[in-house]
Amino acid sequence: MSKVDVLLGLQWGDEGKGKVVDVLTPEYDVIARFQGGPNAGHTLEFNGIKHVLHIIPSGIFHEHKLNIIGNGVLIEPRIFEGEVNALTEKGVDATKNLYISQKAHLILPSHRMLDAANEQAKGNAKIGSTLKGIGPAYTDKIARNGLRVGDIMQSDFLERYELLKCQHLQTAHSLKFDLDAFRVDGMSLAEYEKLWLASIETLRRFKLINSEYFINRCLDEGKRVLAEGAQGSMLDIDFGSYPFVTSSSTITAGVCSGLGVAPSRIGRVIGISKAYCTRVGAGPFPTELFDETGNRLCQLGHEFGATTGRARRCGWLDIPALRYACMLNGVTDLFVTKPDVMNDFAEVKMCTAYEIEGRQTTEIPFEFNTVEIKPVLKSFKGWNEDISRCTDYKALPARLRDYLDELESTVGVRIMAVSISPDRKDVLYKKD
Ligand code: GDP
Ligand code: IMO
Ligand code: MG
Repeated sequence: MSKVDVLLGLQWGDEGKGKVVDVLTPEYDVIARFQGGPNAGHTLEFNGIKHVLHIIPSGIFHEHKLNIIGNGVLIEPRIFEGEVNALTEKGVDATKNLYISQKAHLILPSHRMLDAANEQAKGNAKIGSTLKGIGPAYTDKIARNGLRVGDIMQSDFLERYELLKCQHLQTAHSLKFDLDAFRVDGMSLAEYEKLWLASIETLRRFKLINSEYFINRCLDEGKRVLAEGAQGSMLDIDFGSYPFVTSSSTITAGVCSGLGVAPSRIGRVIGISKAYCTRVGAGPFPTELFDETGNRLCQLGHEFGATTGRARRCGWLDIPALRYACMLNGVTDLFVTKPDVMNDFAEVKMCTAYEIEGRQTTEIPFEFNTVEIKPVLKSFKGWNEDISRCTDYKALPARLRDYLDELESTVGVRIMAVSISPDRKDVLYKKD
């Protein structure tokens, strides 16, 4: 009997989960997404080609590995169809090795409309949502109004669809939302709806399963399962900087409800962190840099959203946030990405504590959004060296290893590996 290993982001998303899942897939039989939806943008690179996945798990390029979209995920059929078609163009037939939970909820075009309506209604307090309909679709799930993937096989699907859409239109009307001006991918709601309904056919071509039984059976048979997270722990609905969060449980606990596995069946938890921090969208970010250094991190790290193209806010590594994330997730192994972005920095900094109203703390305060937080920064001399040719962790510059040692000891979790480029081949494992 085996356990589910988990791989998830420890920061505000975009830590490099797509790349790392792709790298680890050969060690597993099944890769399963457990939450989130098309708000995610997971980038993979190999053979000089870049791929971006949103709903489909990042193990899809390994044809003999099974990929599962779990019950905790949201599927937008039209976006899903786009991903399937993009894979087909690259010679990957996803119908062969991708199964979908019948219990995964659907994002309707009108959920996307409501996402825009809610953001507009918030005015200056906008979340900075990806506008993929995540919040409204999870709201309907919790309110017990949602439509699920399995429902597309039922004869009353269209009737239920219409009913839910009407409710959404009423809500938008009450928010004084200008429906005529609303566009999805350049289309009116009615135009987009036609394409959306047609894309349900693509979904029907996939094997729709009771994924909780399927995954537990895999574990009984000793198969190795990796759960792939989306977003990051600091965007978690309960523990992130609420309300500037996403609408799902992005932490290890979400694996249990998002795939139907018991807590006792969770194995290793691999947490990913960049060697610095980024955040896209609104909300607190204590180590954010508004100067040239922040700009350099953004440019050198190509920190532009894989889903929305928005520039990501950049700053120094935040240890209090990282420790918090490790505590919430039970992280057993750290995977650090993108130190190469700081290769020619003369100085690199790490935030070891927060100063709030003259007092230092290493805990995330309840008032995270409202108090002024001054990061207490520890400075390191930059390694000032191109690390792209390193093939061994021990061959990394001593100053970079010092920085990583400090990270490891302050967080209290061992570093398993470091990623030094977007490419699949550039991963250095730390062997103790
Ligand atoms: P995800 O959402 O966690 O999968 O991350 P994204 O794909 O949104 O963003 C990570 C970005 O960093 C992508 O453009 C990756 O290709 C890139 N990336 C991943 N690992 C590394 C690394 O070690 N070094 C560099 N320079 N880029 C990386
Ligand atoms: P991956 O999986 C980074 C952010 C949005 C916004 C907030 C709420 O690629 O790491 P939502 O659309 O979920 O209602 O947006 O969460 N956000 C992400 N930021 N990476 C992501 O996913 C994100 N998914 C959502 O920018 O601030
Ligand atoms: Mg991303």
